[in-house]
Amino acid sequence: MSLSLKLREQTATAHQALETELDMLSPAFDVARYRETIKGFHAYMHALLPLIKEFLPGVFDVLAINRHLQRLDRDLTALQLQPRVAATANDLPLINSAAQAWGALYVVEGSMLGNRILGPHFKQHFAIDSDSGCAYFCGDVDASKDDHHKGMRWPEFRNLLDVKVIVEAEPETITAAAQTFETLRLWLHA
Ligand code: HEM
Repeated sequence: MSLSLKLREQTATAHQALETELDMLSPAFDVARYRETIKGFHAYMHALLPLIKEFLPGVFDVLAINRHLQRLDRDLTALQLQPRVAATANDLPLINSAAQAWGALYVVEGSMLGNRILGPHFKQHFAIDSDSGCAYFCGDVDASKDDHHKGMRWPEFRNLLDVKVIVEAEPETITAAAQTFETLRLWLHA
């Protein structure tokens, strides 16, 4: 079985736990919770992505990973939010190798898949778009219209992951991915 399939299978429970915790599609998820969620993602990703970049500098550029931070910055400004205190090493997955960085990156890039549902939902529910507070959740969906700053397509990303991580290092990647889901869940819960 390929690593990308193992990741999907072995982190499905962690994905579900995060999805349930966030509850972003429920009527109870109001503007106040949306604003807190953006602040949470902003602080977490600003701490996590430089760590990934340290171990995967070339890939980081190829995949336009900076787009996530740029979009979260835009949302913070558009919604006039004060940044949350930065996440520290204790709040993040353990990343000390390229294999672990791939695991975290799997979660970061894969999260854009859910945005196909969440982006249009927030647009309609909160009457916002990429310029007014929904750059992070709507960004890839909007970008896919003109392919601008979209990043790599998911099937290509999965292929890259399967080629780049050697079999011996796969457990490290899977553990890091599971830790990324779990630490993000705890961080957003705080
Ligand atoms: C309420 C919130 C969420 C919903 C409704 C949701 C929904 C989805 C859906 C429908 C897919 C499958 C898309 C497809 O196969 O085309 C998916 C995949 C994925 N999501 Fe989420 N998601 C949510 C939150 C998140 C978050 C917060 C993260 C991580 C930060 C995340 C990470 C992933 C990953 C890594 C995949 C890829 C799974 C695979 O390997 O196929 N999701 N999500």
